Amino acid sequence: MDNNQVVKKTIFSGIQPSGNLTIGNYLGALKNWVALQDDYNCLFCSVDMHSITVRQTPAELRRRSVEMLALYMAAGIDPEKNILFIQSHVPAHAELAWVLNCYTMFGELSRMTQFKEKSQKHSENINAGLFTYPVLMAADILLYQADLVPVGLDQKQHLEITRDIAMRFNGVYGDTFTIPEPYIPKIGMKIMSLTEPDKKMSKSDVSGGSVGILDRRDDIIRKIKRAVTDSGSEIVYADGKDGINNLLTIYCGFTGKTIEEAEKEFAGMGYGVFKEAVGEVVADHLGALQARFNEILADKEYLNSMLKTNAEKAAYLARKTLSKVYRKVGFYQPK
Ligand code: TYM
Repeated sequence: MDNNQVVKKTIFSGIQPSGNLTIGNYLGALKNWVALQDDYNCLFCSVDMHSITVRQTPAELRRRSVEMLALYMAAGIDPEKNILFIQSHVPAHAELAWVLNCYTMFGELSRMTQFKEKSQKHSENINAGLFTYPVLMAADILLYQADLVPVGLDQKQHLEITRDIAMRFNGVYGDTFTIPEPYIPKIGMKIMSLTEPDKKMSKSDVSGGSVGILDRRDDIIRKIKRAVTDSGSEIVYADGKDGINNLLTIYCGFTGKTIEEAEKEFAGMGYGVFKEAVGEVVADHLGALQARFNEILADKEYLNSMLKTNAEKAAYLARKTLSKVYRKVGFYQPK
């Protein structure tokens, strides 16, 4: 190999196709994927298998799984340079997850915050999949020997358990998996609800607290106008100003400005003017993204052929790791 040639590192990340994607998903994850795609070999997945840990309407899950990839593309991910695929199209994810289940402890899974939260929220359906969810996520990442995983702050704990599982496996069988690092953005790692700014913005929120990437312009502007703020009047990032802090973060996430620049820009102006400006910026940005999304979605033939080609590429890479794992754990493979 030429000394000047640098081997690109690998990125894996995914989003669940359950509910409507929010600006939290966009600023915490998707936007950063776009920025990183030229410097890494990237795999971006629509993780439909994760979604069924909570009951889904089958027709909706099917539609959203593919729409998710169209959204990735509309956000600026190039499907020819990156591997965009649907998780259930690559069986190695489920296969590796089973093996890794046997190297993951009940106790460590019991400590997962997302499991505790989701089992409270879905108390009628605390299924085993919900519990072992982080193991499937570890399989997603480790299958491709990913170096970096760009996610929002809420996934940090799942990245930590992924690293623990990988190190445990490597400890028993020798070097098998690359130990991945999380990539968590400074601005946008945790976008908060507009109605309850001490809670994370979530896809499942239908109360007006979350802005969907596919929301209509009027709705985006109206929701941001109604965002809960404090009783003060200064547009500064400070303790006790969760609502304003969140809007400043959203504004900077979409404009690329720093918090200090935004504070200067809005110095002396009221909350009303500021909210209007945030609403306009978000609506303009999402409007352009939605136009691209609709164009991409209209060409189903391209989408389907892209999906097939990319699933094959992913399956090829995944198979390499899985064979290595099967050999190491002692599964017989005929020559
Ligand atoms: P999911 O589908 O809940 O969210 C997708 C991505 O969006 C980020 N995110 C946020 N970032 C900032 N503010 C918010 N309010 C916000 N809400 C969500 C999440 O951190 C995530 O990066 N388990 C994952 C999906 C997954 C995955 C993987 C991710 C499955 N396998 C392998 C990375 C690698 C999840 O449920 O994300």
